[in-house]
Amino acid sequence: MLLNDEIKEAIEKNLVFLATSSVEGIPNVVPVGFARPLDDNKILIADNYLKKTRKNLDINPKLSLIISDAKNYPYQFKGTVEIFESGEYFEEVTEWAQNVMTELEPKSAIVFTVEDIYSVKPGPEAGKLIK
Ligand SMILES: Cc1cc2nc3c(=O)[nH]c(=O)nc-3n(C[C@H](O)[C@H](O)[C@H](O)COP(=O)(O)O)c2cc1C
Repeated sequence: MLLNDEIKEAIEKNLVFLATSSVEGIPNVVPVGFARPLDDNKILIADNYLKKTRKNLDINPKLSLIISDAKNYPYQFKGTVEIFESGEYFEEVTEWAQNVMTELEPKSAIVFTVEDIYSVKPGPEAGKLIK
């Protein structure tokens, strides 16, 4: 199991940062509020406004995610995304976003499969693969 209950709750409650990379290797980081765990290794993200992030993911579906409260949750998640513009996941993000703000119209649902978790805790554990 990659995501335990503590991590799942932290992802749901906190802003997260998404880091992507363009084909030219230019890094891009954005804050996102609509991120929640789907199961023990998948995180669902509502794409309401993503621009460079989406462009990057279309070319290179690799994503790194950090929970904004990194002091309490010092983890770096890495993995691969799938993007859905219709179907079950898209309907789920649309309902979720519109329950929070009726005017939101998500463009896609991003399903992030976490493959590795590294520690970003300052000290000897920093940078180490933990799961
Ligand atoms: C506090 C905060 C929360 C945000 N939450 C989301 C979100 O849940 N979904 C989304 O698509 N964009 C969200 N955004 C907007 C993105 O951070 C960003 O503006 C958008 O991805 C465009 O940047 P990009 O061109 O680098 O992708 C949020 C921005 C802020 C400041």
